[in-house]
Amino acid sequence: MVLPLLLVMNLIDLYPTVRLLHIGLVLCSGALFAARGMGVLIGAQWSMALSVRRLSYAIDTALLCAAVLLLYILALNPFAVAWLATKIGLLLVYIVLGTLALKRARTARLRAAFFVAAILCFTFMLTVAVTHHPLGIGVNLLSTL
Ligand code: HEM
Repeated sequence: MVLPLLLVMNLIDLYPTVRLLHIGLVLCSGALFAARGMGVLIGAQWSMALSVRRLSYAIDTALLCAAVLLLYILALNPFAVAWLATKIGLLLVYIVLGTLALKRARTARLRAAFFVAAILCFTFMLTVAVTHHPLGIGVNLLSTL
């Protein structure tokens, strides 16, 4: 059913759908991380439950697949495009901060600090993506000076 459809469609026709899917998964991923992070801070057991962790892996895997598909459709080398390279670098920072916030940090105070840092990093990544600029929201602030 899907394969014949793909064969008759030009790959570029899929771009709006894949982009929307990527954005939708980004928002689901961020919302789930925020909920889990707050859950960890108030000591809620469900935050680290196997089913919730599996849901998180599934969303993040689908998000990255959609990202790779976008790169393929647009024929982009992410390391040659400054805002994409910045987004990938920030994604690595976000993963480390997120892991520290959810489980690795020793004290509740440290977990809270890493949680806030991870949310700020995620929000900044969103502004980098929307502005298509490595400075993200900073580029708008600079242009007002
Ligand atoms: C390896 C990771 C990622 C890659 C390679 C990637 C790649 C891309 C590409 C190629 C586009 C389409 C750009 C265009 O239409 O010109 C895009 C759009 C977008 N990405 Fe990602 N992405 C990644 C991760 C993320 C993450 C983690 C976030 C959010 C925190 C994010 C947020 C967005 C948003 C909001 C858009 C839509 C931007 C617009 O309005 O055009 N992406 N991404």
